[in-house]
Amino acid sequence: MQKRIVVTLAILAFSASGITGCKKESPEKTEAPQTVPAPVTPAPATPAPSETGLTGEQLYKQYCAVCHPNGGNTITPQKTLGAKGMAERSKITKPEDIVRVMRNPGPGMNKFDEATISEGDAKKIGEYVLATFP
Ligand code: HEC
Repeated sequence: MQKRIVVTLAILAFSASGITGCKKESPEKTEAPQTVPAPVTPAPATPAPSETGLTGEQLYKQYCAVCHPNGGNTITPQKTLGAKGMAERSKITKPEDIVRVMRNPGPGMNKFDEATISEGDAKKIGEYVLATFP
């Protein structure tokens, strides 16, 4: 009698696992190859070597605002980023002129090479600066 129960249980267990195994397998086979979740764009904390897709404003806040909050200059206060002052003082009138300063800065400013800020992003920053601070 007891042996019979054990056998029955064994059969039940076997068939149950067979069923679940079957159920598990078939949908997996029809599923598309596992799609890797698209990487979420990381927060702009680390310098990106190429085009980041960020706006000039976001890039400015990330790289420049530490020393140039609101277009000011916490280190050399007379060298603010107001367009008028820059034009008169340093002949900076185009986004390219600002990129030039980033690539080759004056004393107290860190250098932003192309590995840190791509040409396209640098230009975006330049455009933002000229359009934002009078
Ligand atoms: C570590 C502080 C610091 C950071 C960060 C910084 N700057 Fe500067 N910046 C300075 C200082 C100091 C000067 C003045 C240098 C000089 O005397 O020529 C300056 C000067 C400039 C000038 C020239 C202004 C003029 O009239 O000659 C421009 C343009 C400029 N910065 C743009 C930027 C941009 C754009 C960024 C971000 C990509 C940036 N700076 C980040 C400190 C900084």
